[in-house]
Amino acid sequence: MQKKNIVILISGQGSNMQAIVRAAQAQRWSQRHGAQVLGVVSNKAASAGLAWAREQGLATAVVEHAAYPTREAFDAELVRAIDALDPQTPPALVVLAGFMRILTPDFVDHYTGRLVNIHPSLLPAFAGLHTHRRAIEAGCKFAGATVHRVTAELDHGEFLDQAVVPVLPGDTPDTLAARVLTQEHLIYPRAIERLLAPAV
Ligand code: GAR
Repeated sequence: MQKKNIVILISGQGSNMQAIVRAAQAQRWSQRHGAQVLGVVSNKAASAGLAWAREQGLATAVVEHAAYPTREAFDAELVRAIDALDPQTPPALVVLAGFMRILTPDFVDHYTGRLVNIHPSLLPAFAGLHTHRRAIEAGCKFAGATVHRVTAELDHGEFLDQAVVPVLPGDTPDTLAARVLTQEHLIYPRAIERLLAPAV
């Protein structure tokens, strides 16, 4: 079976990353799909998720965006850091999990067909930031999350999975975000596993 490396990109707590790593272990992706979470890359050295990844024995790398003069220079270093995790085997999937940087077309091109993201809204509604506040302010009765392939256009690309939650009376952006996040932890590993499974 061909080895399939997964690299996860984070900026913060990395709860989606944790859900993916746990699913990979519990569902034996290594034996079933030849897939492993190879490593985690963050644009912030202080990301809580990085410490957790290190505790799991995963390879980690930090590429601080603030250290680069342009988006292009940052993204070029990011590609280098991702691909250096296993110089012999390019990643089969690069998984954006709360990675809060807009990526350049060059980065997206480099990983065409291998790049996925989770966005905390029911796309195509509420691309961009502050999705939960915007859903509440718009009077939405439902909110949710979308796993999608990444294209050069922000929060576009083929939808791979979605989950819906109710917006409840009295919800704040934080209470709604927490409800959505519980669903993100289900749909993101599920969508990734579907991509790893050989077509029948
Ligand atoms: C998640 O809700 C994810 O959907 C969102 O950030 C959170 C990260 O949480 N992503 C974006 O807003 C991307 N534009 P996590 O670090 O606990 O996985």
